[in-house]
Amino acid sequence: MPGELWWKAGTVYQVYPRSFQDSNGDGVGDLKGITARLDYLAWLGVDAVWLSPVCRSPMADHGYDVSDYCDIDPLFGTLSDFDRFVAEAHRHRLKVIMDFVPNHSSVEHPWFQESRSSRDNPKRDWYIWRSPKPDGSPPNNWVSNFGGPAWTLDPATGQSYYHAFLKEQPDLNWRNPEVRRAMLDVLRFWLDRGVDGFRVDVIWHLIKDEALRDNPPNPDYVPGDAEINSLTPLYSADQPEVMEVIAEMRALLDGYDERVLIGEIYLPLERLMAYYGVDLSGAHLPFNFQLILTRWHAETIAALVAEYEAALPPGGWPNWVLGNHDQPRIAARVGAAQARVAAVLLLTLRGTPTLYYGDEIGLAQVPIPPERARDPWEQNEPGRGRDPARTPMQWDSSPNAGFSSAEPWLPLDPHAANCNVETLRDDPGSILTLYRRLLGLRREHAALSLGAYRAVSVENDVFVYEREHADEVLRILLNFGHAACSVPLPAGSGWRVLLSSSGSRIGERPADGHLALAGDEALVLLRERPASDSAQLHLG
Ligand code: NOJ
Repeated sequence: MPGELWWKAGTVYQVYPRSFQDSNGDGVGDLKGITARLDYLAWLGVDAVWLSPVCRSPMADHGYDVSDYCDIDPLFGTLSDFDRFVAEAHRHRLKVIMDFVPNHSSVEHPWFQESRSSRDNPKRDWYIWRSPKPDGSPPNNWVSNFGGPAWTLDPATGQSYYHAFLKEQPDLNWRNPEVRRAMLDVLRFWLDRGVDGFRVDVIWHLIKDEALRDNPPNPDYVPGDAEINSLTPLYSADQPEVMEVIAEMRALLDGYDERVLIGEIYLPLERLMAYYGVDLSGAHLPFNFQLILTRWHAETIAALVAEYEAALPPGGWPNWVLGNHDQPRIAARVGAAQARVAAVLLLTLRGTPTLYYGDEIGLAQVPIPPERARDPWEQNEPGRGRDPARTPMQWDSSPNAGFSSAEPWLPLDPHAANCNVETLRDDPGSILTLYRRLLGLRREHAALSLGAYRAVSVENDVFVYEREHADEVLRILLNFGHAACSVPLPAGSGWRVLLSSSGSRIGERPADGHLALAGDEALVLLRERPASDSAQLHLG
């Protein structure tokens, strides 16, 4: 949209690099592979590519454990492969968003190696070290997000280090100004290479309570739920001082042209809003995961949209996410039919949408036999692993779905022969065609990308809202139910179907007053006559 910031008008597409395209036949995706698929992303019609981590890493958590923040892991290629990827993405008019993982490094990072070497090492305070309690128990009761203790005793110095995730992922001490400076240098390194923004991993975790007080028990904990939920994270995350750190990152980005800061934040809405920062000095886009966390039902989703819109700070730009590499796939959560409704919702709500690779072909949760599990969380807490949502992208119906010439690192979806880009791209009724049409519509109609949002109704499983910009009004109707129904329409407005989730009704002009909606159907209508004309027509 000319004149508008790209990260407001555009859409973000998340690539999990291990699983997008392998170029060197090792069964794992890489940068050259992603570069070769940029034509596809441009064809699809997204505006930015967010890459999950590609920095050097021993891969204990598949790249979310960085051992060199200023280099590319050989599994994915080289710095020059990365530079070429950025240049090619830009040539395709695609922005590049990197995943920045500042809360913790790898144990193999030289900073941690130094830090652990002695209690008086100059980098000791770059991480969070404490002595065990006199009885030998850990310094506090915090637990790891992946289950088990969040403290690991390092016999060399007799102290324990804190890790919110794996013991291979020690938390950095963001209260230390040297850490902050070093990390801002990392951001500068990538910004100078032309990166257009960052998705900051667990940004709400960066600062912990100074006294590292025990977290209180969670009164709502249901035994059997993930161990991390047994405590309320009152002291281990979301501390007020984190806002200063984020404002520092933001100030650095503001020194460049149109770069974006996205924060990964799993917090309730009222806390999430704090991450826009005072006078919007924080993240441009604190990720809004509410569509992942809210029950899939017309009334609850309508209430969520109203609540989110009302909670936004003045000038704060909304955003919506349906899935990512940490969450079960949308097609599995709501079913194949509703996944189309979800696509229409994601791409017609007000705010920047983030798409997760593979959702556009309807990829589901892929069954992973225990012996092929790769997510370390699965080892710690069986059944919680995220592998089923991280399987290779399916490009065609060849044996490895066009992803690799070798056996892929995770199994393919058993339906890959039908569920792939090549098969779906020319099918007018496919989910891929639906995504592409939606992305096209967002570019054609400013009402969708930038327009105002107005809720119209929620009745009988159908959620209706409008988007409006200048003279243009689009009405979106989403049937969250499986039964057909009839939805009232303002008579005489001259509605025309711009898009339908089934692909079959485009161009239809519904007869006056009512519209028949099939079960699981979503429509985008364009009002062809302004309201005043329609009133006259109606009278006449
Ligand atoms: C959030 C990331 O999205 C997830 O994949 C990772 O395991 C943790 N942060 C730790 O970095």
